[in-house]
Amino acid sequence: MKVSVQLDFLPVTADLAPAVHSLYLSCPTYIALIGGETPSLNDIRRELETLRQDTRRQAVLIRQGERVVGFLDYKVAHPDLHSATISLLLIEESLQGRGLGKAAVEQLEVLLKERMERLYAVVYGHNEQAKRFWERLGFEHLRDSGPNLSWYLKRLR
Ligand code: ACO
Repeated sequence: MKVSVQLDFLPVTADLAPAVHSLYLSCPTYIALIGGETPSLNDIRRELETLRQDTRRQAVLIRQGERVVGFLDYKVAHPDLHSATISLLLIEESLQGRGLGKAAVEQLEVLLKERMERLYAVVYGHNEQAKRFWERLGFEHLRDSGPNLSWYLKRLR
């Protein structure tokens, strides 16, 4: 059932690594799809540390009320000054298909609209569900770069 959704974006700091890790553990289908292993808590800590050193990179936990429902990793002023790029939107597996992913992207669009003209989404691997999701949200397939990355684009204004 679709729900009308109000979400909060909570910037991820190192102390939130366990929450990000739990979210990955709750998404086994996605992990299998990208052919990887679930990252360990230490992997997540290292990744968050790397992320902190790049001021353009933004990682947020997506919360509905007190509950963490997803994770969003994007970069502003990338690949050019007037664009932002989403590298990962992850919604907890048991909550997928209820409008949360769409609501998160719509909220991000509102946040970015004044500063950015374009929003890209980069889909890793053979993730056909994700490609359909981005197309459903009005993103156009732009190009494939290499065998594993598909770029999608939406103009924000
Ligand atoms: N096939 C076709 N349409 C789909 C699919 C699908 N597999 N998934 C969602 N949609 C459509 C829905 O029907 C809906 O359309 P509607 O508004 O007309 O009803 C719309 O997309 C929004 O669907 P949501 O319910 O908001 O999608 P959800 O909350 O499940 O979020 C997401 C989508 C982010 C892909 C989620 O399923 C997920 O986390 N999947 C695993 C991780 C993943 O693949 N993330 C994307 C990687 S690529 C990247 O982040 C740049």
